[in-house]
Amino acid sequence: MCAFLKGEPSVRVSVVGLGYVGLVTSACLAEQGHDVVGIEVSAARIEALLDGRMPFHEPGLAELVEANREVGRLTFTADPAAIGQADVVFVAVGTHDGNGGWQTRTIQSCLNDIVPRLADDAALVVRSTLPPWFLAHLPIIVGRMRQEAGLGEVPVLLNPEFTKEGTAVQDFLEPERVVLGIAHDVDGRGAAKLRRLYRGMSAPILEMSATDAALSKLGANLFLATKISFANELAQLCDQYGGNVDQVVGAMAYDHRIGGAFLRAGIGFGGSCLPHQVTMTVATAAESGLPTPLFAAVAEVNLRQRERMIDRLAELLGGSVAGARIALLGVTFKPDTDDLRDAPSIHIATRLIEEGATVVAFDPMTNALEHFAALVPGVRVASSVDVALDDADAAALVTEWGIFRQLDWVDAASRMRRAIMVDGRNALSVVELVDAGFAYASFGRGIRGQTEVALTAPLPTAVEADLTGEPAAYEMPAVDMTATESSPTERYRSGTSGRDLALTD
Ligand code: UGA
Repeated sequence: MCAFLKGEPSVRVSVVGLGYVGLVTSACLAEQGHDVVGIEVSAARIEALLDGRMPFHEPGLAELVEANREVGRLTFTADPAAIGQADVVFVAVGTHDGNGGWQTRTIQSCLNDIVPRLADDAALVVRSTLPPWFLAHLPIIVGRMRQEAGLGEVPVLLNPEFTKEGTAVQDFLEPERVVLGIAHDVDGRGAAKLRRLYRGMSAPILEMSATDAALSKLGANLFLATKISFANELAQLCDQYGGNVDQVVGAMAYDHRIGGAFLRAGIGFGGSCLPHQVTMTVATAAESGLPTPLFAAVAEVNLRQRERMIDRLAELLGGSVAGARIALLGVTFKPDTDDLRDAPSIHIATRLIEEGATVVAFDPMTNALEHFAALVPGVRVASSVDVALDDADAAALVTEWGIFRQLDWVDAASRMRRAIMVDGRNALSVVELVDAGFAYASFGRGIRGQTEVALTAPLPTAVEADLTGEPAAYEMPAVDMTATESSPTERYRSGTSGRDLALTD
């Protein structure tokens, strides 16, 4: 048992829905010494878990699951009857419709199954991200179900998660804050149970209304998405005026009000959370007559970045990608996951193929690569990064896996028909690539190397007037468009290495 639970009774927990959120919650709560039963309706998923196979890749999770199953603190079942034994029942089912919209069918049918089975003294805790408009209905739906079953009322709370794929275990075990949203908890026993569950956490526990809890989750994701789109817009200014976004953001980050996190420019955000939560917020607010132009622009800038990848490749290939063989390095929406949900790779590969390019993709996650091949008609997948690069006219870095950061660029250039790299994650060293003979483009760091293109902006009319008329009261700052830049900041290095693949080109 972990240190903080010494001498303290553990809490009996059920987690309904063993996707990313539910499985991480189950394993981490078991790791903290609680008795956890994970419940899942998908026969294939429960069979895999009972068999000791993980349904997705998340660093450190398989080890936690195995260790806690071994000591009997974590069990899995398809039988919802297990809920009857729990003090705290988490609901962690999906709320996306897969098309950029919310859906509450899954959670409503889940509530149907579990609410009549809750013990009288249990607390119901929703961990799924809920549409704000559903919050007012939630305690009413649960209350009605309990009443129809002839049972007493139970506390209903929200406990949003703030974990990131790739670091979800650490994020759960060492949270920066724990948010408890109260939907219905007349005597406070629901909140007391959750405080007991989380008593080992050193993070502040913030109690608020369910609406505030849901909006604090949504607000965090909207802000992160806004920061990324901001960085991408700023990167365009840097390209326009011959700047380097790494230097610019690096200098801005010294201001503690700004900070440096989530300001990495590139092809924008993907995944199951940020893109979807931005578009759903805009759509749902519009339905209630509320315009949200800032969030709409965040989504628009994000999609534009995916198209800019195509434009940059075309630019370096002499105007068009048609007929070119392009090595797509990485397909997952970020490193350390096998998740392809709303991955920019899908849009980029599809558009390149539409434009007449041959796309050869490689990713260290074999299962993601196979899934990618099914999602993108016409794409070819490679058995190794070398095979992807062989005879390529250009390479496009889409996911900044460690295996790509550590490539021997001289060797890579010698394999390719033309040494062209568009770095969609600003993850590679400009100096290294240029020294290896590449024409190298990233986002907000210009185009460098072999076929160096000086990005020049037309002079503003006022400046032109000054230059042609009376001597100006100031001088134009000297900008050396051809200078090679110092090494870009490397703070996003993950150092992940790939693993062998069994696929063939
Ligand atoms: C995101 C949030 O970061 C979590 O706090 C939140 O709990 C989670 O959504 C959720 O709602 O469940 P996640 O989707 O796992 O987590 O991934 P992020 O690390 O946020 O990355 C999202 C995307 O933004 C990735 O495609 C990443 O490459 C991109 N990104 C990130 C940038 O383009 N620039 C950056 O500076 C940072």
